[in-house]
Amino acid sequence: MFGKIKNKSILILMMTVLLLLVCACAKKEEPAEEPTVPDTSETQETETGKVMVVYFSYTGNTKILAEYIAGLCEGDLYEITAADPYTEDDTRYDADTRAYKEQHDPDCRPEIEGQLPDLSGYDTVFLGYPIWHSEAPKICYTFLESVDVSGKRIIPFCTSAESPVGSSALNLEALKPEARWDEGIRLEVEMSKEEIADWLEALNLSE
Ligand SMILES: Cc1cc2nc3c(=O)[nH]c(=O)nc-3n(C[C@H](O)[C@H](O)[C@H](O)COP(=O)(O)O)c2cc1C
Repeated sequence: MFGKIKNKSILILMMTVLLLLVCACAKKEEPAEEPTVPDTSETQETETGKVMVVYFSYTGNTKILAEYIAGLCEGDLYEITAADPYTEDDTRYDADTRAYKEQHDPDCRPEIEGQLPDLSGYDTVFLGYPIWHSEAPKICYTFLESVDVSGKRIIPFCTSAESPVGSSALNLEALKPEARWDEGIRLEVEMSKEEIADWLEALNLSE
C-alpha cells in the first residue's frame, strides 16, 4: 500500500516538474515586447527645401566652394558668366582697368551671358562672389536686379585675398530688400568640403 502511495507521489512530482518545464519553455518563446519609443530614424529626414547656388568666379576660388555647397545641399548650380568676358588686363589690380572702373561706377551693370535661372522653385539661394575692390563684382548686381527673389532666403558668401565681406553683402541686400538675407560671410578659399559641411549645418537650412 505504501509502495503504491510512493509511486503515485513520484508520478505527481514528475508531472509537476514536467508542467513547470513546459511553462518555462513556453515563456521563452513569447514575442519580445514592443519598444516603447518608436524608431523614427528612417522618417526623420531633414527637410531643407530646394537650394540654388548662384556664383560668379573669375579665377575659380569661389567656384570650388560653390560646388561644395551645391553638392552637400543637393542643390543646383548657376554660374554668372559675363557676356563680355574679363581678361587679365581687365582685372589687374590698379586704377585704370575695366574692373576698377566698373566697380567705381554706381550705374554699371555688366551684361550676363545666356539665360537666367528660374528661381521660383527654390527656397534658399546661396550667392557667392569674389571681392573686387572691396565690393561684390557689379555683374552680381545685374543678376539680382534681373531675378525675382521675393521671400527667398539669400545667403551671401565671398572669397578674397584678405578683405572682409565688409559692406559688399549689405549693398547687394539693398537691391532686393524683399528677400530674407543672411549676414554675408567671407569663406577662406582653402576651406575643405568637411569645413563647408560644418558651416552649412550651423545655418539650419531647415528653418
Ligand atoms: C579685379 C579684382 C579686384 C580684387 N579686389 C580685391 C580686394 O579689394 N580685396 C581682396 O582681398 N581681394 C581682392 N581681389 C582678390 C580676389 O577677391 C580673390 O582672389 C578671390 O578669391 C577670387 O575669387 P575667384 O577665383 O572666384 O574669382 C581682387 C581680384 C580681382 C581680379
